[in-house]
Amino acid sequence: MQERILKMLQAEEDYLSGQEICDCLGVSRTTVWKAIKKLRENGYEIEAASNKGYLLKSQPDIVSDVAIRPYLKTETMGQNICYYDELSSTNTRAKELGEAGAPEGTLVIADSQNAGKGRRGKSWVSPKGKDIYMTVLLYPQINQEQAPQLTLVAAVSVAKAIREVTGLECGVKWPNDIVLCGKKICGILTEMSSEPDCIHYVVVGIGINVNMQAFPDEIKDMATSLLIEGKQSTCRAKLTASVLNHFEQDYQSFCEHQSLRGLRKEYDSLLINNGKDVKIVGIQEEYSGIAQGIDEDGRLLVAMPGGIVRKVVSGEVSVRGLYGYV
Ligand code: BTN
Repeated sequence: MQERILKMLQAEEDYLSGQEICDCLGVSRTTVWKAIKKLRENGYEIEAASNKGYLLKSQPDIVSDVAIRPYLKTETMGQNICYYDELSSTNTRAKELGEAGAPEGTLVIADSQNAGKGRRGKSWVSPKGKDIYMTVLLYPQINQEQAPQLTLVAAVSVAKAIREVTGLECGVKWPNDIVLCGKKICGILTEMSSEPDCIHYVVVGIGINVNMQAFPDEIKDMATSLLIEGKQSTCRAKLTASVLNHFEQDYQSFCEHQSLRGLRKEYDSLLINNGKDVKIVGIQEEYSGIAQGIDEDGRLLVAMPGGIVRKVVSGEVSVRGLYGYV
């Protein structure tokens, strides 16, 4: 009830009469009043005026079920929301839910993480109330080797969501860092549980630096936030919902094609390394060439000086611009 009333109040710039809410939702005045009381307890500032009704004056920046749901346009993603004030890691919790058979598209979201995980065993800085720490649980009917491609799918979805909500144009650093003004704004960590012939579940964890004002010294030259670059704070619930709205569409395309075929053009248009010199640093070798987009399996195509095009598989290498992080 709270979410439905909130959605109505968000859609109205002026006062909304109590009677209109009752009629539209088919509930009593008492029910409406109780829901308004709960919303206020959750930090929503709602003014009530006799003969006029209710006016939403301000919203708290929270990422709970009530805050996200009014912005969702999905059928499955985020329809089941598990919100926590604090977690070790949303990926870890999503994996537990995967073991328990929670529904496809379940969203695990936390206001803070005390053991946020990055790729390659690194940690992910996750302070309270600032950024987005979200994980989506999926049961894709794909081959095991294709699971890492979901990270590229999510990268496209996040870049579109950031553009939609903030107007800021991000790029993607292959395979899956979202970059703004030459610095990392979002990281994605995909993990799966599988056996040779079947995937049990996949969790796609997304961390977006939203309203962080400054970063620890070790990462400040490489990381930025939407607040730092856009000079204004962003509603985390709106951005979370927008990521889910885009991710549902992009995930559908990926599952239909069983590849990145439907998303490849969009991905390439976001690829900041495209057409540029890149250095591929693998365990056994290191080489440079010119990036030429991805193929439909998400491999980076790198044209070598002699004309040969190498297909670089993510996970095995890191990619650097010749002049630093990007
Ligand atoms: C990277 O190193 O680039 C990946 C970072 C992924 C961070 C997100 S935050 C939400 C989810 N939960 C985690 O513990 N990690 C991912």
